[in-house]
Amino acid sequence: MTSRRATSVWRRIGLALLFLCSATLIISASNLHTAEDVLIIAHRGASGYAPENTMAAFELAERLGADFIEFDVQLSKDGELVVIHDVTVDRTTAFTGYVSQYTLSELQGMDAGSYSNAIFADESLLSFQEVLDRFAGRMGMLIELKEPLLYPGIEEKVAEALKRRAPQLQVAGFGGSERVRAVGKSRNSAAIIIQSFERESIRRMHALLPDIPVAVLVHKDEHPLAPETLDELASYSSYINYSHDLLDEDIVRNIHARNRKVMAWTVRNEKDMERMKKLGVDGVITDFPG
Ligand code: G3P
Ligand code: CA
Repeated sequence: MTSRRATSVWRRIGLALLFLCSATLIISASNLHTAEDVLIIAHRGASGYAPENTMAAFELAERLGADFIEFDVQLSKDGELVVIHDVTVDRTTAFTGYVSQYTLSELQGMDAGSYSNAIFADESLLSFQEVLDRFAGRMGMLIELKEPLLYPGIEEKVAEALKRRAPQLQVAGFGGSERVRAVGKSRNSAAIIIQSFERESIRRMHALLPDIPVAVLVHKDEHPLAPETLDELASYSSYINYSHDLLDEDIVRNIHARNRKVMAWTVRNEKDMERMKKLGVDGVITDFPG
């Protein structure tokens, strides 16, 4: 081999190595999560500071700069979507009985703030429509179908309500990016994610609204998930959401390896928040956003 040819071969090898190193760096960088990438989701609104699932809690979450509000939906006696966590009204109102025993109008007349503090006596239970009226296109919404097996047809009702909002949501990213960064410091996004512990319900939601990301909540009893179960969940769910105390590096890696995301719930202190950020989760669901 002439010395000129040898130089050319070495130059090509050098260029190939340089290309490989650059590609590796680019791939590594694209997989890196920084603390700023982590979505902050206000659990039942900023429920560490205000009564859960009320307008006060949601508005505070927005002011604190949360990316999303998380809330729970169920059905009233007259088949309307209502925002409440428990299947009964006992804990958060002065009334007793199942949510499904009351009409929407009766539920909207209930004080849902005093259980937390008398200063919130004006807060009432909300319809899904009221939350959409106030926040559609303004903030991300992580909508949990709570106990959907009790409410046949709830998936269709949620899908219809969201479809009616499509023009409003489209402007801000209906079915698009989970984060639409606004100008300045605002981190509030305008996307929708629907989650539930009930997989069949989430499958149904995915079939009804294929452009809206869905999330499966992993119940503690289901942990650890077998690899084939994770594959199955990843076949329709964009997010696999875990209780923060169960999460470790392996779980996060296994979910990301399937090109899916993971959110951790429910974080209530700085130590757990830092641990979740270090693990590289995509979102943290917390009572104390901001
Ligand atoms: O977002 C996750 C979390 O909300 C699930 O638990 O009981 O607060 O609805 P729970
Ligand atoms: Ca919830």
